[in-house]
Amino acid sequence: MTLSIIIDGGLSIPKCGRNPLRWLWFRWGRYLAVRHRGVRVHRTCRIHPEARINPRGGQLTIGARTRIAPGACIQGPVTIGEDCTVQIYSVIVAVRGGPITIGNDVHIAPHVMMIAANHKFVDTDIPIGKQGIEAAPITIEDDVWVAGRVMITAGVRIGRGSVIGAGAVVTKDIPPWSVAVGVPARVIRTRKAQQSDNA
Ligand SMILES: CC(C)(COP(=O)(O)OP(=O)(O)OC[C@H]1O[C@@H](n2cnc3c(N)ncnc32)[C@H](O)[C@@H]1OP(=O)(O)O)[C@@H](O)C(=O)NCCC(=O)NCCS
Repeated sequence: MTLSIIIDGGLSIPKCGRNPLRWLWFRWGRYLAVRHRGVRVHRTCRIHPEARINPRGGQLTIGARTRIAPGACIQGPVTIGEDCTVQIYSVIVAVRGGPITIGNDVHIAPHVMMIAANHKFVDTDIPIGKQGIEAAPITIEDDVWVAGRVMITAGVRIGRGSVIGAGAVVTKDIPPWSVAVGVPARVIRTRKAQQSDNA
């Protein structure tokens, strides 16, 4: 851990500039991801070796220039586009029947959680953990900012250009260009309207 902090400069997101040691360190992080069958990571990605990336038997793809921070956990059939960031301790877990698709220019702040499945709990005679899961896809369109500690539940689509405020729990689709906050998340305004007001 200490060695890692010395090499990565203590930064929360992989950045190597002209530092060859850091470049190698993030190449090592990329190798740790692509050693799993079904993982494709663009060569320009910066993956911190302390990220946990595992396709769980599915296909996991990360696009060009995307950066994955230490402590991020990305598992299952997940597609992440280009120029995205996944910050420290964010958890993105997809399952069979519940893929997660993240577009381009999407920024995921620290401690965000998105899990594309729920435990079933209909039967009170069987322990919840033995009833199986219900999967549903999560989709985040291009140019979205998901702020710190947001939770996104299974089956949700977040429309292009949206901002999800810190701590929100998103249980329903969010239309494009929205600013949504709260538990459960509600749209408080649209960015398009604000742009035309300011014009
Ligand atoms: C959502 C956010 C971007 C502000 O957006 P905004 O459109 O400028 O919103 P405003 O500050 O004008 O607030 C509008 C209303 O929403 C409320 N609000 C703002 N952010 C909120 C949040 N995260 N949760 C609940 N309510 C929130 C405000 O209190 C205000 O309520 P009011 O009208 O009753 O006074 C900001 O509050 C936020 O959550 N930032 C994220 C910080 C973060 O996680 N940073 C990580 C960086 S990667």
